[in-house]
Parts: sequence; C-alpha cells; structure tokens
Amino acid sequence: MKILGIETSCDETAAAVVEDGTKLLSNVVVSQIDIHKEFGGVVPEIAARSHIEAILPVIDKAVNDAFPRTVRGKRWDQIDAIAVTKGPGLLGSLLIGTLTARALALIKGKPLYGIHHVLGHVYANWLIRPLPKFPVLALIVSGGHSQLVLMNNHFDYKLLGQTRDDAVGEAYDKVAKVLGLPYPGGPSIDKLAAEGNPKAHNLPDAKLENPYDFSFSGLKTAALRVAQKEIGEDYTFPSYQIAERLNDKQRADLAASFQRAAVTTMVRKTVLACKEFQPATVVIAGGVAANRALRTELKEALPVSIEYAPMELCTDNAAMIASLAYFHAQVKQPDDPMTLETNPSLAV
Ligand code: KG4
Ligand code: ZN
Repeated sequence: MKILGIETSCDETAAAVVEDGTKLLSNVVVSQIDIHKEFGGVVPEIAARSHIEAILPVIDKAVNDAFPRTVRGKRWDQIDAIAVTKGPGLLGSLLIGTLTARALALIKGKPLYGIHHVLGHVYANWLIRPLPKFPVLALIVSGGHSQLVLMNNHFDYKLLGQTRDDAVGEAYDKVAKVLGLPYPGGPSIDKLAAEGNPKAHNLPDAKLENPYDFSFSGLKTAALRVAQKEIGEDYTFPSYQIAERLNDKQRADLAASFQRAAVTTMVRKTVLACKEFQPATVVIAGGVAANRALRTELKEALPVSIEYAPMELCTDNAAMIASLAYFHAQVKQPDDPMTLETNPSLAV
C-alpha cells in the first residue's frame, strides 16, 4: 500500500510517499526557517501563507520522485491513500495541509487518513532498519512535546510521563534567544555547545514525583539567571539585552552547560524506564532527537542497542505521517474528506 503523506503543522511544508509503512519512496521538505529567522521564531500568519505557496509544488515533486519510471499522467494511479497531519500544531498551518488533502482525496478518489503529528514522529523509526520490535519505549522530544511512551503495539500504548511545563525543544529555543543564537535554537545550541565547557555552570535537574515526568522551565530560568550574573546584572535585567554583552566564551560555556543538563535529564529518565519496563526496542523521536549529544550519550548509557533515524526524518517531515497512516489503515476506517477537522491541541 503506497500512501502520500502531507505535513504542514508548523514551519515545514512536506510531502512524501511511503510503501507499507516502512519503505521510503520519496521525501520532500521545504523549510521556512529562513523566513522566520529574522523574527526569532515562527510567525503563524506568515507560516500559513508560505504553506499555501509551497504545498502544491511539494506534493507534485513527492509524487513524481516516488514513481520516476511511470508516465507522468499515471503517477497518481499508484497512490492508494492520502494521509495528513490533523494536529497538534498551528491552526492556520494545519488548515492548509488538511484542506489540500481533503480536496485531493475527493478529486483523485483516494481514502483519507487524519494523523497525529506527535505519534507520527515515532514512526520515523519504522523507516530505518532494523524495524522496531514491541514493546517499544519511545522518548518523544520536540518543540511542543517531551514524553516517554511505552508501546505494546501500534495503537496500544501508555504515557509514562510528560513535561509539566516547557517542552525541551522550547527550552532550547528560549535559551538560544537569550544567548543571541539564530532560530531554531536547538541546532544552534548543539553546535555552539561543542566549543564550550559543559561543567562551567551547574544547572538543575528537576526531581519530580513521577520519575518519568519532565520539567524544563526551571532549567530555562536557571540558564537565564546565570547569563544575567555573567554580565553583572540582577534578575530584573531584560533577557533580550543580555546577548550583546556576553563574550564568545561565556556564550559557549552556557550553551554547553545547558545542553549537558537537558541531555542528562533525558538520558537518565529513558535509562530508568528501560530498566523498569524492559522494552525490546528503544527509539527517540521529534526534532530534539537530532541532537548529537543526546544521541551519543543515550547510546552509551542504554543497556540495549539503539538505532537512530537520520536527522531529516527526526525533524518535521511527511514520511513519518505516511508511515503511521499505513498502520492506522490496518485497523481504522478512513476519515470523511468532507468533514476531516484539524485539532491544534490534539493530545497523545
Ligand atoms: O519536531 P520538530 O521539528 O517540530 C515540532 O513538532 O516541535 O521539533 C522542533 C524542535 C525545535 O525546538 C528545535 O530547536 C529542536 O526541535 N531541535 C533540536 C535540534 N534540532 C532541532 N534541539 C536540540 N538539538 C538539535 N540538534
Ligand atoms: Zn514535530
């Protein structure tokens, strides 16, 4: 079964074709990062407009790339279903994807599946080899989510813990802003951290009642306080004026210390869950799964081996949506293309 996936939940316009949930036939991602960079973050209105401009050429390329040897007019015949992210995400952005998918499903006469973006991230791991074996322990870490999920089967899973406040990617983005680093903050901090001393500052690792819950807001504030102290100011000093007064070493040391604290927390909790629940496979998912320190340290600390999806399948893409849709289609009925709704705050 070949599924065309469409993803527009945030600032990437993406389309991909995946066969049987596990074989990547094409993967097209147009990122709006350069557009949003000058604003220091995603501007929802601009994101929605950019999706409108990009979506049809992106879908066209994904379908053409998937079937290069088929006559152009016949390529759509090979698509068995269309899958689209229905939430969570930015409302305007989600609407462009879902409305496009709904129209295409009607025009081309294909079944349509509305897919959960965050669960979709986990399925990037079904596009690499070896395929995950159940039970699967998934660490989901993105700009909007920080969760540990135990999956006994595709749609039989338990949320072990989640963030009580900020998502880890959000903390990365906010600390990067204080340091004057470009958006998105995760890759910027990841890069700069390699030049700094991770032990320069001792930043907190929150202790919570549920050992699998996360809290990154205290860490983010602690990083802000250190930055204020480094330039000789108190907690009332505005965060947006700090960066220009930090020197390169201060910036790199703070990036490295923040990253050490964030990665230590993620690794500690994943290893704890692995020991308690003894999964057959551990996977990481979401934009923060592209983090180099997290990848290295988790591999060293886990009692089982772990494989990672390539960076481009960790950040937002449509291949993961098409992959999850295949497993979804085995057990669920298609959605109605006349009524499929978006849900910006869809829960796991
Ligand atoms: O999954 P994603 O692409 O979008 C959401 O669904 O949120 O994740 C984006 C998040 C951003 O917060 C970004 O800063 C973070 O993932 N990120 C990283 C890295 N690459 C992206 N965080 C840490 N290290 C990275 N290398
Ligand atoms: Zn995402």
